[in-house]
Amino acid sequence: MGTDSELFSLVYFSRSTVEPRKVDAEIRSILDSARKKNPEYEVTGALLFSRGFFAQVLEGSLTSVQSTLEKIRSDPRHTEISVLSCRPIAKRNFADWSMAYAEPDRDGTVSERINGILENASCIDCDDAGSEVLSVLQMLITGSETISSGT
Ligand SMILES: Cc1cc2nc3c(=O)[nH]c(=O)nc-3n(C[C@H](O)[C@H](O)[C@H](O)COP(=O)(O)O)c2cc1C
Repeated sequence: MGTDSELFSLVYFSRSTVEPRKVDAEIRSILDSARKKNPEYEVTGALLFSRGFFAQVLEGSLTSVQSTLEKIRSDPRHTEISVLSCRPIAKRNFADWSMAYAEPDRDGTVSERINGILENASCIDCDDAGSEVLSVLQMLITGSETISSGT
């Protein structure tokens, strides 16, 4: 456990409980809340929705990442929240976004990859699944898959 200035990256996934026809509106509302509130806690990150699953990366101090997760946990728009990894990072992967949104890809390649991870994440190696989700989000959002992990 480090000091509060130490940066952490937490990756979780969850199952959406939102009716398919309401998903777009709910994602908009989630992003609105996140973009309004995360700056206050210096939380950055990225959100993905793919075939009924959410996957999200939260970055910030351990306290702020944990309290943001606790708030999100009690949200009725999803269930079965599984934390895949929570590890210290040297720098933010999503520094420019209070909450980036990764649009689902058109040809479904990324969805296949994400769903493969999420469906099997219970849980052969959570840490690997966490890294893989992070890497997919990074690729979708920044166009680069190079993750600066704890170096
Ligand atoms: C998948 C998912 C991700 C969310 N991510 C965030 C987030 O990063 N930051 C945040 O403040 N709220 C997030 N929320 C929304 C919170 O659960 C909660 O609804 C919101 O912060 C409450 O805002 P309000 O006080 O304006 O109603 C998320 C919700 C869901 C379902």
